[in-house]
Amino acid sequence: MTKTLTIRRPDDWHLHLRDGEMLRAVLPQTCTHFARAIIMPNLVPPVVSMADAAAYRDRIVDALPTGADFTPLMTLYLTEDTDPEDVASAHAAGLIHAVKLYPAGATTNSASGVSNFDNVAQVLEKMAEIGLPLCTHGEVTDADVDIFDREAVFIDRVLDPIRRNHPALLVVMEHITTSNAVDYVNANPENLAATITTHHLVINRNHILAGGIKPHYYCLPVAKREEHRLALRAAATSGDARFFLGTDSAPHTDENKLLPCGCAGCFTATNTMSILAEVFEQEDALDNLEAFASLNGPRFYGLPINETTLTLVRETPDYPGHIDTPDGPVTVFDPAMPLNWSVK
Ligand code: DOR
Ligand code: ZN
Repeated sequence: MTKTLTIRRPDDWHLHLRDGEMLRAVLPQTCTHFARAIIMPNLVPPVVSMADAAAYRDRIVDALPTGADFTPLMTLYLTEDTDPEDVASAHAAGLIHAVKLYPAGATTNSASGVSNFDNVAQVLEKMAEIGLPLCTHGEVTDADVDIFDREAVFIDRVLDPIRRNHPALLVVMEHITTSNAVDYVNANPENLAATITTHHLVINRNHILAGGIKPHYYCLPVAKREEHRLALRAAATSGDARFFLGTDSAPHTDENKLLPCGCAGCFTATNTMSILAEVFEQEDALDNLEAFASLNGPRFYGLPINETTLTLVRETPDYPGHIDTPDGPVTVFDPAMPLNWSVK
């Protein structure tokens, strides 16, 4: 049995760091294992301009522990008022690596997102021209669409039309949760990729709802049926270059998770690499963990692979059940299975 596994240092292609005290509390959880992360812009107020992104990047760098080797890869939050020239300037300056599309109302702090997709056509055209990826939160928000169908409907009604209107646009389908999304990526080899979270490889909707409601497993897009989880596991562990890790690690205090209307998000920054090693070992695909966590993302984003490495050893990991923050504890994702791999 394999006892150690050394891979190029991984990156997280979808991460929520928040701001202020929360940023300082959660950043060390990511920067000890990951070299880079695509930083989500859904702050309050959101990161909508080049100036916002530069200021946020500086606050992240300022919050890094001494000696940390971590590069935040900034994104802009797409609104119907986004200026294509501001996006192009931020990209040309090397500041931003993607623009994030939230359908208005789809998730945490998405109120400033897009309602009328025609109103962002010029920005998307500019992004296609300059090779700047669009990261999509792929759910429609229509009240008459069942929450478990919102990703599949988004692909048909929103994503596919956008890609047909802008065939050169690079698109990352973020945190995919369905076999429909896996199939769509597989059927569209040009300019398309998808991130998969740690938690969606582990939980299905029973984990959230059977035997009592588990708020810490509630995230968006919500976990679906088992057949979808299995499709995600097959895609993630396949080694296919179009699928890569985006944890969507999203810190909320326990207080906010446990409200009558609790927040969406799973906090996986702390134990993601242990969980992934477990999942890949279960799928007899440890050899493909490096592709998923360390190689496929930089290839899609046109960035170099990390020179440094990360070593996993076959030992029970020791990690806290929650992270203390000045706002209150943040519960670390419970994988609901024994873990056998630790980061050395
Ligand atoms: O579960 C989620 N949490 N999904 C998202 O899309 C946003 C995120 C957050 O910001 O908390
Ligand atoms: Zn997210």
